[in-house]
Amino acid sequence: MTHLFPTYNRLPIELSRGNGTIVSDTQGKTYLDFTSGIGVCNLGHVNNEVHQAVSAQLAQIWHTSNLFLNEKQERVAALLAKDNLTYTFFCNSGAEANEAAIKLARKHTGRNQVITFQQSFHGRTYGAMAATGQDKVKRGFGEMLPGFSYAPFNDFEALLALVTEDVACVMLEIIQGEGGVHPANEDFLKKVESLCHQNGTLLIIDEVQTGMGRTGFMYAYEAYGIKPDIITLAKGLGNGLPIGAVVGDEKLFSSFSNGTHGSTFGGNQVVLSASEVVVKQISDAAFLADVQKKATSFRQKLDTLLTYPVVKDVRGRGFLLGIELQTDAAEILEKARENGLLLLTAGEKVVRIMPPLTVSEDELDRAFFILQTILREG
Ligand SMILES: Cc1ncc(COP(=O)(O)O)c(C=O)c1O
Repeated sequence: MTHLFPTYNRLPIELSRGNGTIVSDTQGKTYLDFTSGIGVCNLGHVNNEVHQAVSAQLAQIWHTSNLFLNEKQERVAALLAKDNLTYTFFCNSGAEANEAAIKLARKHTGRNQVITFQQSFHGRTYGAMAATGQDKVKRGFGEMLPGFSYAPFNDFEALLALVTEDVACVMLEIIQGEGGVHPANEDFLKKVESLCHQNGTLLIIDEVQTGMGRTGFMYAYEAYGIKPDIITLAKGLGNGLPIGAVVGDEKLFSSFSNGTHGSTFGGNQVVLSASEVVVKQISDAAFLADVQKKATSFRQKLDTLLTYPVVKDVRGRGFLLGIELQTDAAEILEKARENGLLLLTAGEKVVRIMPPLTVSEDELDRAFFILQTILREG
């Protein structure tokens, strides 16, 4: 008998060891982990430097609350700052980061409306759930938070039709991850940016899945030359320790004034010691160039799979990739698992591929061979 609520459809294996891209289960079987714990362990499992930093912190102090100065928060926030994005608020998850971003946008603009996109995913709390453009996430949970509307993704005219003077923010993912690995078009993003600018509406980019080097850029928006007012981060920011963050434009400083928002655990000493290593390593230009190089050659190989009848589309960027199939993705995942490769789905027919960014060429080749063999058989 279980004492857990059955909120997850769990696989029949338990992972008990990890090192880089390799994980092993309690039966001793090893796997190439091309899930990274759903895009979390971007620097690989039990990353040595993260391990050392966390161990050192564990021997000093664990938790001090936000009633005291926190130099580590200052350092990580300084590392996260980029272009106009100057100030950070730390929390504990992606949903919390999006909640905070929506609060900040409403507070700053004094407006109420929030526009997001169909098939988006922003989290499971009431605000983040309201922002999510998928009915299946909301079903059965009663009245949603008012003020949210949803445009079809990549459809600028449809977005325009929803815009009023009361729109506080437009929130979007650069690649809709959970929604099926659907990238935004560059032209669309640029139009959304200028629309927001003209309308006094804040542009929030949810980088929870796409951020922290996942697409070969520190933040995915950087590839498009746009300037969001707020980005939200989580997943890869702690490499496996729970954290979220909101990073916002300079002009928003006074809108999150003393007493307006908070979190007991947000910016915790132990988690921040992991994040400091993570942000330093991932923001390094040579590291990102290596991710781009490996991802480009892996993508070229994946594109050859398009010749198999079962493969409908290959899309994504960097190491956030999707293979849309004619069949059920869960069956392919099961076969891959039997062959020692762990993958994700994104909806029913899309296989999602998210290896650690530290994955080796050899591991990429091995994973490709397994995928190729399975998909060739259909
Ligand atoms: C784009 C995006 N935003 C928000 C979330 C929610 O993050 P969390 O599960 O940490 O609350 C996710 C989780 O998958 C996500 O992919």
